Amino acid sequence: LHTTINDYLRQYIRTVPDWPAPGVQFRDITPLLQDPKVFRVLIDAFVHRYMDPELRPDVVAGLDARGFILGAVVAYELNVGFVPIRKKGKLPFTTVEETYELEYGSATVELHADAVKPGDRVLLIDDLIATGGTMMAGKKLLEKLGAQVIEGAAIVDLPELGGSDRLRESKLPLYTLVDFA
Ligand code: PRP
Ligand code: ADE
Repeated sequence: LHTTINDYLRQYIRTVPDWPAPGVQFRDITPLLQDPKVFRVLIDAFVHRYMDPELRPDVVAGLDARGFILGAVVAYELNVGFVPIRKKGKLPFTTVEETYELEYGSATVELHADAVKPGDRVLLIDDLIATGGTMMAGKKLLEKLGAQVIEGAAIVDLPELGGSDRLRESKLPLYTLVDFA
């Protein structure tokens, strides 16, 4: 039986209709994490890609909150450090911040000012790209500190929302494992 990683992982993503609001098809990745074999396939897909000397980052940055689960494990396996990009008001030390638009209203994310050094090559990780606003804000924060974001990685892309196109237009290479039209 031959199956692509895209089809394999897709089976473990649960779609919850009308959550958290009517009309939203929520793509829930928790079943992927819950099965140890599938979790390993998922993490190994990222680790194998970023072990390549051309793509190996100096630092992995994870986006609040599901990007922490993936990013920390990938960083550990690559033997590089992990830095969290958090929703506003959670980080205790001096921060840089970036505000971005959501479908309704806006959100602010923060990064510790000493989280990365100028010239660091950073891999930015989240679970999912929808409008791309969260990942774009993360990229801007890292660039404010002089770091270079080499790639954005996520399990899921929702291409119809246009986020992945916008991110690529802003010169951010992307690597995602499963698309949902
Ligand atoms: C979800 C998801 C991404 C973001 C993607 O997080 O985990 O971080 O939305 O959407 P975007 O591409 O339109 O920015 P959410 O805001 O639900 O926060 P959570 O991780 O704390 O649940
Ligand atoms: N974040 C934004 N849109 C989402 C969706 N449809 N499923 C899961 N997370 C999301």
